[in-house]
Amino acid sequence: MLQNKFKSEFAQLASKAFQATFANKYKETGDETVFSASYILENIEKPKDPTKGRFAFPVFRYGKLLGDNPPSIAATIAETINQTESKLIKITSIAGFINIETDFTVEASETIIDAISNDGKYGSSDAGNGKKILVEYSSPNIAKPFGIGHIRTTILGNSLRRIFLKIGYDTIGVNYLGDWGTQFGKMIVAYKKWAKPELDGKETVSDLLEMYVRFHDEAEENEQLETDARSEFKKLEQGDNENKALWEKFRKISIDEFDRVYKIMGIDFDWVTGEAFLNDKMESTIEAFEKANLVSQSEGATIVDLHDEQLPPVLLRKGDGATLYLTRDLSGFLYRAKEYKFDEMLYVVAVNQSVHFKQMFKALSMLEDAQSVSENDKMSTKGKHVEFGMIKFGDKMMSTRKGHIIFLEDVINEASKLAKQKIEEKTPDLENIDEVALQIGLGAIFYSQMSVRRQKDVNFKWEEVLSFEGETGPYLQYTHARLCSLMRNYTGELNADIDFALLDNREEKRIVELVADFPQAIDDAARMYEPNMIANHLIELAAAFNKFYQRKDKNGKTDKIISDNKELSKARIVLVKAVQIVINEGLYLLGIKAPKAM
Ligand code: ARG
Repeated sequence: MLQNKFKSEFAQLASKAFQATFANKYKETGDETVFSASYILENIEKPKDPTKGRFAFPVFRYGKLLGDNPPSIAATIAETINQTESKLIKITSIAGFINIETDFTVEASETIIDAISNDGKYGSSDAGNGKKILVEYSSPNIAKPFGIGHIRTTILGNSLRRIFLKIGYDTIGVNYLGDWGTQFGKMIVAYKKWAKPELDGKETVSDLLEMYVRFHDEAEENEQLETDARSEFKKLEQGDNENKALWEKFRKISIDEFDRVYKIMGIDFDWVTGEAFLNDKMESTIEAFEKANLVSQSEGATIVDLHDEQLPPVLLRKGDGATLYLTRDLSGFLYRAKEYKFDEMLYVVAVNQSVHFKQMFKALSMLEDAQSVSENDKMSTKGKHVEFGMIKFGDKMMSTRKGHIIFLEDVINEASKLAKQKIEEKTPDLENIDEVALQIGLGAIFYSQMSVRRQKDVNFKWEEVLSFEGETGPYLQYTHARLCSLMRNYTGELNADIDFALLDNREEKRIVELVADFPQAIDDAARMYEPNMIANHLIELAAAFNKFYQRKDKNGKTDKIISDNKELSKARIVLVKAVQIVINEGLYLLGIKAPKAM
């Protein structure tokens, strides 16, 4: 795994220092791991206030263990380390913290060379080597349009897939289509009643939606429709040929439409599956729960009592024999556990389904307990609901049933149109303006979904997401284009002979630190399933770079990056290149394209 050299150096030296200074005591503690270099490395922090050192290591946890007060421990360890004269780091201590300063010239050269020589791979690691992760995302429902409601799962999941790939996991992106369930009974009734013969074979998702909405309108007056829908769905479940053909037709229309939109968005999957795929697997799921003595009957229905006040029982099968969304999810889990033997499985699904997932994981864990699966072999603990807040779109509420739906594609079109207007104002003679406008429009939409921690709601406002300034996708893209343009304008020589000591101002220092900490940001994002951490890191880096770009010298003139000072320009242009690599790579991890000019 790519590790910050300075942190590693500190961890090694600190571990040795502990062993030397507390030689007798630390063996008596019975917990030697906390003195190991790897433990120390894991617990190095980054001070919020950068003047407090590049990194810091708190020693409070050693107070009790060593029977000494933390400030004194910190001072002793700092002193011991300083005696070893590390070339890379300088150590001080304050109030229970050991502060670590790096040799800036060394850090700048190491970091920039690392970024440039690993272009495209910078920030990769082998943290996930030998591990398999399934990331399930998007999962729209058939016969319903791809609305803005599915945008967040699609964008967050796509990013998580890229992040886990980057750190070496065997990563499988799964799209679990909602292609089964009672809504198909409704669609079939609607189709049989109202389909326009002249459209046969040419229907689009909008035509399907129109029928779906009409069904709900008329069902408000006419209860018979709901009854009919139930019986049509039952027929479908029993394999009725006509209904099956209709179901296949709806499915195909929807999938073609989804694929078209995914292509525009640059989203892909490794495995497109769906609820219907599990139809022949549910019987064995129910049997497994029966065998484990976990089911009971309640008014003709088959249920699993979770013995949990917070959670309603799992309804495996209704009185009329129909299975449910949760039955299918349980079957899907068991199937994937067997087929993929994953180390982790993420369900990137909105927070309003959290009870559903809690029920599911609890039921699975009860099943494994009943089967006496050993703690190590348990799969139920490997599933994780990566939940996210809702997306609000101005004041409009969304409900497919009422037909109040914002189509994702309309949002994309609107975003690109506005982006195009902006580009035309700024750079009217840009080549491939439509392509770039789409990239910017998508950048705005994608970024808006990761601009906050995932559990928070997002309020989507055009003026905000499309701004070229502030915390937006277009701002990052614009910064990237600026970096590329600087590199195009540099006509000086480029060779390995660079004097990194020439990089010495505050802005340059800040940039180097952010480039150096990019791998850590990726790791953090993976650990917390939070692409927002990468988004924030890029914003900080872009801001630091733009500050550098506008920097004034002593005389109040802009301190140009490329100037008559050849050696300085050369050192700066490699710094520019390193920033460009990180922003490009970071945007890629968020699913955003980085145009070279805009
Ligand atoms: N199709 C569902 C919906 O649109 C989401 C599926 C989420 N994934 C799952 N395994 N339940 O609400």
